[in-house]
Amino acid sequence: MNPEQNFRTVVLRDDWALTRQVTAWVDAGDRIAVVPTMGALHAGHLSLVQAARTDADRVIVTVFVNPAQFGPNEDLNKYPRDLAGDLELLRPCQVDAVFAPTERVIYPEGFETFVEPGEVARRLEGESRPAHFRGVATVVLKLLNMTRAGLAWFGQKDFQQVAVIRQMVADFNVPCEIRVAPTVRDADGVALSSRNRYLSPEERTRAGALNQTLRQAAAAIREGERDGHVVMGEMKQSLIDGGVNEIDYAVVADPVTLQTMHEIRLPAVLLVAARVGATRLIDNLVIE
Ligand code: PAJ
Repeated sequence: MNPEQNFRTVVLRDDWALTRQVTAWVDAGDRIAVVPTMGALHAGHLSLVQAARTDADRVIVTVFVNPAQFGPNEDLNKYPRDLAGDLELLRPCQVDAVFAPTERVIYPEGFETFVEPGEVARRLEGESRPAHFRGVATVVLKLLNMTRAGLAWFGQKDFQQVAVIRQMVADFNVPCEIRVAPTVRDADGVALSSRNRYLSPEERTRAGALNQTLRQAAAAIREGERDGHVVMGEMKQSLIDGGVNEIDYAVVADPVTLQTMHEIRLPAVLLVAARVGATRLIDNLVIE
């Protein structure tokens, strides 16, 4: 029998329903992997689900647009929500459960404890989005606890997010292994993102500037350039030439601390954040 035909994804909306399900799995000795998402799924998310399948008995995908990680002027209200479409995309992926809670399930009345990430959350994204990683760390800790996952998969696309989560898991002794899958890109190199759907066709072309900038800078470093200021200057120029509207940052950094490198040592990570039209996009590239 075709296993896909035989497969039913359970959609859980409540914490008690999730608890009942994961308790049964843990009691049976199953190893649970979780893939946290905000929905509006694309091939990047699905690659995490496929990776999770390879080393866990049960895979849970969570779909929750987390208000705590959006700033007051950010896109919380217009963030794309399409649970039916997401379930359709997940159907062939053999996910054991989709946890799609309401806001009240995650933040019930009286909720008041937040995770306060440290230094690693303050630079780069943290400068443009001050409360963002506080919201991310809080919801991820809750999701890891609720799903009782021993493995959690994240995308390299959100490089700093992974660094913040790794630090939080280490600092709070969370019994969950954090795994990272490579960034999935369109044919033209643009990293897949739920926010790409905000781009007009003309902006979508200009969005190519981010990845092109990363690749040019990586090539310069591989050819021996070691002056961080030179590389970062070239990255900014390349983003401007590529037609972005506003640059938040374009840096060479240490992959663990995310501190900017003035003298480049490898491994290093190149990170950019820029607005194309009104849409804020990020991308990164690791140089080993
Ligand atoms: P979201 O943006 O939906 O992303 C969910 C996961 O998919 C993240 O780990 C992200 O890095 C990964 N991802 C996104 N685009 C990708 C791509 N092109 N290739 C590979 N992986 C990609 O990140 C979040 O949601 C939230 O902050 C969350 C962790 C769910 C907490 O609310």
